[in-house]
Amino acid sequence: MPEGSPLRLALFASGRGSNAMAILSAVKSGRLSRIAPALLVCDRENAPVLEKARDAGLPAIFLNPKSFPSKDDYEKGILAHLREKKVEALALAGYMRLVGPVLIGAFPDRIVNIHPSLLPAFPGLHAQRQALDYGVRVTGVTVHFVDLQMDHGPVILQKTVPVFPDDTEEILVERLLPVEHEAYVEALDALSAGRLRISGRRVLWNPD
Ligand code: GRF
Repeated sequence: MPEGSPLRLALFASGRGSNAMAILSAVKSGRLSRIAPALLVCDRENAPVLEKARDAGLPAIFLNPKSFPSKDDYEKGILAHLREKKVEALALAGYMRLVGPVLIGAFPDRIVNIHPSLLPAFPGLHAQRQALDYGVRVTGVTVHFVDLQMDHGPVILQKTVPVFPDDTEEILVERLLPVEHEAYVEALDALSAGRLRISGRRVLWNPD
């Protein structure tokens, strides 16, 4: 990342958008001073995140996966918008779609995701429910680089939260959300400062 020029980041989201908004707030407050949000990409037409992003001043587009003949074509369609906005990195924030080879090839080691569990435990949908069903006493959040497998790439950081015997899924979701927001901001700050280097499955912080 060149010194002095903020990292042009695209946010990808499908729903409510609390992580996307937390990132935008951190940019606005100066906490993420090396990030320049450039675009929000959404795959669901009625997702609340679209309006929230626009209200916060970020251009937001809905691209319908069903209007493209294949996943590759869909991602090429997205890529054209990302190129136009000179995007350098992607942050998946509740994006409910597996990223494919087109986007991963275009942004090697430049796509990050947040997941509401301590990976590799409980990947995929309803991670909080999975944690409750398993009976774990501790769960948490993971920010990781994205590879072709779901919720799988090298881990940037994790934070834990307790699970109590009488927790419901809703309670656990609410306990995890602010921790997700904090973890994502911390990870993006490190990424934008050039402080992360991938070494095999590991992510080295401050490698030089
Ligand atoms: C979050 O729990 C995120 O970790 C998961 O999906 C949820 C999205 O929430 N991948 P929001 O749209 O950011 O509020």
